[in-house]
Amino acid sequence: MTNTVRSVICGVGSYLPANVVTNEELAKTVDTSDEWIQQRVGIKERHIAAEGEYTSDLATAAARAALANAGLAIEDIDLIIVATTTPDYTFPSAATLVQMKLGMHHGFAFDIQAVCSGFVYAVATADSYIKSGMARRVLVIGAETFSRLLDWTDRTTCVLFGDGAGAVVMERVELAPGEPERGVLTSALRSDGRHWDKLYVDGGPSTTGTTGHVHMQGPEVFRHAVGKITDVVYTTLEQTGYTVGDLDWFVPHQANKRIIEGAGAKLGLPPEKVIMTVDIHANTSAASVPLALSVAVADGRIKQGDLVMLEAMGGGFTWGASLIRW
Ligand code: ACO
Repeated sequence: MTNTVRSVICGVGSYLPANVVTNEELAKTVDTSDEWIQQRVGIKERHIAAEGEYTSDLATAAARAALANAGLAIEDIDLIIVATTTPDYTFPSAATLVQMKLGMHHGFAFDIQAVCSGFVYAVATADSYIKSGMARRVLVIGAETFSRLLDWTDRTTCVLFGDGAGAVVMERVELAPGEPERGVLTSALRSDGRHWDKLYVDGGPSTTGTTGHVHMQGPEVFRHAVGKITDVVYTTLEQTGYTVGDLDWFVPHQANKRIIEGAGAKLGLPPEKVIMTVDIHANTSAASVPLALSVAVADGRIKQGDLVMLEAMGGGFTWGASLIRW
């Protein structure tokens, strides 16, 4: 009997910019209200990066926290993956800047761009690198300064997003036959580019040469989100033989309270098993899942042995889920 290779999450960390902007503050500059925002999306406040504070800074701070939580040093890491849609520069990747800032002079680093699904894509990618033997320990970071993509006069988008970063350390563990299972059990990733213009940024190096702003067909995104999220959750359950009833925690992308509640209800999940941080973080795109994860790990809800479902859906569309035995 051979050992089973698993990618175990051995550290979690996060970083949020100091500046908190409440709905009331936003309502002073754009025609909106605390009541509208809370009722439609469940957001109360968001963190906004300071001038001169970049995605790689947020990512580096979250990575340091995750390394400390794992009791590891940067020398122990061989790969850094940063999931982001808001890199500091068109190139090089935010990941190589994080590598430099952490003082890592070995190994390799790259970005993943799958918008709000980026962190789930990055977990699945790190798991594949670990299982193939190309890396032993991977820093997986979701980091965004999404505020830089917003048109602050467009009330239909600017109230929805925030900045932040979350990170995990994933480590190769060999489980002997009969040992309790741990780590990433499976991931399911999907995309469908036919929906690209339902949620996109109208700029880029190859088109306008500018960064552009977020545009969204909100009701269309909403219509697709619940079905796509539940489909991919069921795929991971079918692949592993588990059922919704086996899940201890559901850690969804924090786009919108009503999407999260809709997906939870369709799956038949009790609300107390759903981690919700959209009220205090808003939608931080690729950072949202690791930020929610770090809150639930820090407050002791998620603990070793728990069955945890991560899921996300975003521009592209992209969507995906990872089932993890903590
Ligand atoms: N404040 C006040 N009024 C607003 C605001 C605002 N911030 N934004 C829009 N409105 C108004 C609209 O102008 C419209 O007014 P009108 O009827 O006079 O024309 C009215 O509210 C209703 O607009 P709708 O777009 O139909 O509002 P809806 O009820 O669909 O809610 C929302 C909009 C919240 C964006 C919804 O469509 C939604 O939740 N979509 C999902 C999108 C999402 O969560 N995106 C996040 C990124 S995608 C992701 O991460 C998965």
